[in-house]
Amino acid sequence: MTRRAVVVGTGHYLPERVVPNAEFSTMLDTSDEWIVSRSGIERRHFAAEGEFTSHLAIHAARAALANAGLDPSQIDAVVVATSTPDMTFPAVATQVQAGLGMTRGFAFDVQAVCAGFVFALANANGMIMSGQADRVLVIGAETFSRIMDWTDRSTCVLFGDGAGAVVLEAQAGTGSADDRGILSTDLNSDGRYGDLLYVDGGVSTSGTAGCLRMQGREVFRHAVEKLAATATAALARAGLAASDVDWVVPHQANLRIIRGTAQKLGLPLERVVITVQDHGNTSAASIPLALSVAASEGRFRQGDLLVCEAIGGGLSWGAVVLRW
Ligand code: ACO
Repeated sequence: MTRRAVVVGTGHYLPERVVPNAEFSTMLDTSDEWIVSRSGIERRHFAAEGEFTSHLAIHAARAALANAGLDPSQIDAVVVATSTPDMTFPAVATQVQAGLGMTRGFAFDVQAVCAGFVFALANANGMIMSGQADRVLVIGAETFSRIMDWTDRSTCVLFGDGAGAVVLEAQAGTGSADDRGILSTDLNSDGRYGDLLYVDGGVSTSGTAGCLRMQGREVFRHAVEKLAATATAALARAGLAASDVDWVVPHQANLRIIRGTAQKLGLPLERVVITVQDHGNTSAASIPLALSVAASEGRFRQGDLLVCEAIGGGLSWGAVVLRW
């Protein structure tokens, strides 16, 4: 018997305030036409004053638990992927644990920027396969609006706030690629590219939160090639190929990157979950948001093969292959 980490519930939460592209034209030299044509983004949500990353995460977690029909007491571990924690410490995950009323288990954050959810899923899968945990709540939650430079039109129009969550549960599999659950993962980082995408502040440097800085064109150049390569590597590890894939659930940074990657994998856009138009780039929250939105629309059927892929600051990138 092989232990498999199967998705048994999904949920998401978006802050109430929706910001259409037009709002940026009132304060910056930009336009709805530029933002849509360069990124595919039409609107994004911004958290309200006093609404923190942990609050978004708790809402998404409750929705995922309800979707799974589980009580928080049945969860062994909470993993939150975030680069925008409420505070330097404690981890957002422990605040989620407290918010859910959990008094057992363990909780920690994973920081791999936009690739964070893929890294968190891979970690949770490892904990389930090793027998450390039977049920893990994996959350991506971000408030990137808090690290924007509102005078920098090349970044502040691209990001949004939100949270998505999945419940993973250990189930018995056969060890074949026909099993439900996570079949393989592929993780990569290359710190030499740290200056392409970073935040210019931090605890041990400036003592401030800082603002996001990005060499967009350079990140773009790496993205399509690395995303297609990691998806292909993860599929190969499971003995599968792109032609076996029913759904690609990509990190939602830019529609042109999503299109380019699908094309490189030889997959039609109808097989790709796209939410970037409504959420913008929500960093680690983007894949679980897309998963939850697509699942709530009934787009996935049991047995469908999904590949999630993401790239972000680090650079860090990776993919997870799972059967729904
Ligand atoms: N409105 C109008 N013009 C703009 C804006 C704007 N909001 N932003 C930039 N421009 C201008 C630039 O100043 C530039 O003008 P110039 O030619 O006079 O110098 C021109 O538009 C073209 O700029 P580029 O940066 O070359 O535009 P590009 O087509 O590359 O699109 C974008 C920019 C959308 C940022 C794109 O490069 C991209 O998506 N990059 C990847 C981002 C990404 O995937 N990030 C990864 C994850 S994020 C994470 O990990 C946190």
